[in-house]
Formats: sequence, structure tokens, C-alpha cells
Amino acid sequence: MGKKIKEIEEIESELKKDLKDSLSSADVDRLSTKYLGKQGKVNILFKTLPIKTDPQIGRQINELKNYIEEKISAKLAETLNTSGQAPTDVTVPGIELPKGSLHLVTQAIEEIETIFLKLGFVRRRYPEVETDWYYAEGLNIPKDHPARDDQETFYVGDNTVLTAHTSNGQLREMELKQAPPIKMINIGKTYRRQTDASHTPMFHQFEGLVIDKGINITHLLGVTEYFAKSYFGLDRKTRLRPHHFQFTEPSFEIDITCGVCHGTGIIGKTPCKICKSGWLELGGAGMVHPNVLKNGGLDPEECTGFAFGWGVERVLMMKSGLPDLRLIYSDDIRFLRQF
Ligand code: DAH
Repeated sequence: MGKKIKEIEEIESELKKDLKDSLSSADVDRLSTKYLGKQGKVNILFKTLPIKTDPQIGRQINELKNYIEEKISAKLAETLNTSGQAPTDVTVPGIELPKGSLHLVTQAIEEIETIFLKLGFVRRRYPEVETDWYYAEGLNIPKDHPARDDQETFYVGDNTVLTAHTSNGQLREMELKQAPPIKMINIGKTYRRQTDASHTPMFHQFEGLVIDKGINITHLLGVTEYFAKSYFGLDRKTRLRPHHFQFTEPSFEIDITCGVCHGTGIIGKTPCKICKSGWLELGGAGMVHPNVLKNGGLDPEECTGFAFGWGVERVLMMKSGLPDLRLIYSDDIRFLRQF
């Protein structure tokens, strides 16, 4: 095979540069004319070089021609969006990516938090793994007290538990602030050995604590009413029922009127299946026990306070009418997508 003719080499390098400079299909069309057209560079070679006397020359020019054709059509395809079709239409709507959303428990927590922030509470989070002191002993629940059996606590160690309520936040808040006024809402995870339609081993509570000079039960009632009306609706009413908790005195259970029968306990002529009595139980509350104030470093002669601890999933179920709590923690995307 003979050496490449100088003219051919020159054309090849010129083509390389031209290809680089061509951005549109029109540019490439012009190259096609320049190199392969009747008056193009290739034809000129055929006419000017001595192809008759040296067959090698004719062969080399033919190779050049094929080479140029190949390069030009590749470049053309490139400028026409490789597939040879028209360039991408940027006005065509894009592919929609699957969208996530906040989990319904997170939504409920945010809603609850917002209601209490409006009343001037601060949002707190206290440990989920807690020592016996904050969790029980300091809350006036001695080691041998039967109240310890009520809560099906997970023990992590002899002296450490997974919190079965958010009330541990009470002492921690008193220690943090050291003096009244205290007005906090502690929303956190809680754990109990339980699973059925309305209980999961992990759930959430929101614990309110208000301490100041002259705090009394009417303040507790006011906050309870405000929460019930904001979260459930203006038509809801609340009531206190006497109860017992070690860390409050007096202690109450708070009930709220049922949204299905509107507090009447009957629908048409039959008893309401949801509440049976017109009332649904919201959760515990009371006036902070003097021992608890003392344990938190405060003087019960100086200040008083109220506290409450209610379930996030509980209020969520009461509001939405969900039949089974376990659904909330299922990974069924068809269910979760509805919220
Ligand atoms: N810790 C209680 C529970 O989980 C609920 C509770 C009752 C919290 C009365 C309080 C309270 O702050 O005052 O069952």
C-alpha cells in the first residue's frame, strides 16, 4: 500500500476542523456540498490527480470519499439528535416523579405543636431511654408501688427504661428552667408491651406542663377546651372525670364529646357505636403533685402547675375515624397515600 497523498491528508485534516465547527444540520449540509458535491474537493482530486497512470491514487481518493461520507452522515445524525429525529421538543411536559408526603403521624404532631405554640408553649423533646428517677421515682411512683404494674414497660437495664409515657419530661423541664414560668409541650415516642387494634408497641404522646404562681384547674380547663376545639372542631365540648395518677393531685381523665353522635350517645334511635355514651376519653391530666415540684427543684408553696399527657395516635384516630391503629404503621403505600 502506497503512502497517503499529500492532498488527501490535507483534505482529511480540513474536514476534521470543519466537522468540529459544524453545529447544525445546515452546517453539515454545506460540508457535504463542499467535499462531495459536483464541484467538491473529492471530485476536484479525481479531475486533477493522475488517476489513469497510478491506480493507487484512484483507490486512495475512493477511500477518502467513503471516509468523508461516513463522517458527514455521523455528524448529521448527531446534530439531528442522534436517532436521526428532530431535536428534543423542550415544551413537551416532563415525566412526573413519584411524590412523597409527610406520614400522617408527623402531620398530626405538627398540627398539635402548632396549636400549643399559639398558646405560648415551647416545644420540647426529652429522652426516650430514661432513668428510673425521671420516669417513675421522681414522679412520685416508688419502686414497690402497684402503679408500676399499670404500664407495660420495656426495661433496658435495671435502672433504665424505654419511656412508657412522656411525663419524664416534667422533671427534666423543671431542671432546665429552674424557675417558673414553665409552659412546655413535650411530644415524643413512648413504648409499651402491647399490640391490638388500638395499641402499638411504639406510639407518641404529647405532654403539657404549665407552672407558675397561681396556676389552677381553670387554666387546665381553658387549655383543654382550646385544644379540643382547635384540633377536633368548634362544636366539641370537654369534661373532667376524677381519676388517680401518682404525679398529680387532684387527677382527672379528660373526655371530649363524640364527633359522630355529637355528644348525644345515640344515632337515630340506636346507641352510638363509636362512644356509646356521647363521650370519648382523651387522656390523663391533673395538678402537679407537690412532691413532683419538689423533686424538680421548685417550691410548692411558691408555685403550682397543671400537666396532661395524651396520645398522638389516639387523637388522630378519634379525629379521622381510623378503625385500626396498626394501619398507621403498616407499609401499605395505598393506605398512606391517602393522607
Ligand atoms: N403519663 C400518663 C400515662 O401515660 C398520662 C398523664 C396523666 C400525664 C396525668 C400527665 C398527667 O401529665 O398529669 O398514662
